[in-house]
Amino acid sequence: MSPAGAAPGLSVRLGPLSLKNPVMTASGTSGYGLELLPYFDISRIGGIVTKSLSLRPREGNPPPRLAETPAGMLNSIGLQNIGVDAFIGEKLPVLRRHDVAVIASIFGETTEEFAKLAHALDAAEGISGVELNISCPNTARGGIEFGVDPEATSRVTRAVREATRLPVIVKLSPNVTDITLIARAAAEAGADILSLVNTFMGMGVDAGSGGMILSSGSGGLSGPAIRPMAVHLVHRVASTVKVPVIGIGGIMTGHDALEFILAGASAVQVGTATFTEPAASLRILGEIRQHCERRGAAAISELVGSLKRRGGPPPAAPAGG
Ligand code: DHB
Repeated sequence: MSPAGAAPGLSVRLGPLSLKNPVMTASGTSGYGLELLPYFDISRIGGIVTKSLSLRPREGNPPPRLAETPAGMLNSIGLQNIGVDAFIGEKLPVLRRHDVAVIASIFGETTEEFAKLAHALDAAEGISGVELNISCPNTARGGIEFGVDPEATSRVTRAVREATRLPVIVKLSPNVTDITLIARAAAEAGADILSLVNTFMGMGVDAGSGGMILSSGSGGLSGPAIRPMAVHLVHRVASTVKVPVIGIGGIMTGHDALEFILAGASAVQVGTATFTEPAASLRILGEIRQHCERRGAAAISELVGSLKRRGGPPPAAPAGG
């Protein structure tokens, strides 16, 4: 319980990664973070996760590569990015002027490419961690190829672990039969943190034209449509592994973020909400703070994994009456 009137502590510790608060932007939803500067002060949120970086620049898929769906969005960007060298040379020096944790999402077609990316970022000043995108559904090589196989997950995690001293986050795909097998493989191979979930595979058909909606056919589904499935998977993973978990999947409000936190996530990432409201992550942080105040929680960390089963003991009464 917090002393009456004291602001709740919002800082979180995820193994070796300390954040000033639990709200980050999700990879691929705000470029390299600088795109958010016209909208809000990025130093107020817990962290920025970059669009996935590859060794060389990638043009991505031809349009159409984004489509709205009921309560969500389908995308098949094809990992368009400027490449790790341009990120380090052009974007990172600007990001360094802002007091925000920068997590570099990395994508390789092979284990060696992942390791090279991690090594390059290790030497760059101003990176707080790397997030392995082993779950992109939109590439012929790499991506989800790793994330659906425990052995491949283990190999790539170990190679990155050996290539960097930075905190290693492994981002899991929901497109698997048993996510706990992949989570265990990543944790045992040296992942410091797991983030989940990446997008669910989906497809849209334009019945009028008789064609597929995305140029690539299928893509990744995100947004509120996936939230109950994401909360379920976060709960399963957080109940299985000891490493801290970051919850991702259709978070639009502070209440949504709390769902993940109570289910076991130590922090959250906000993605699709940013497309319609670039400052959504900051608003959601404010709503989390209000929630803690209402519950009389002295610190957000008290709430992590504090989910009660229906019929179990009632939650602690809010302070102050
Ligand atoms: C892309 C990458 C992802 O990891 C994802 O979930 C969806 C799309 C992409 O760049 O195509």
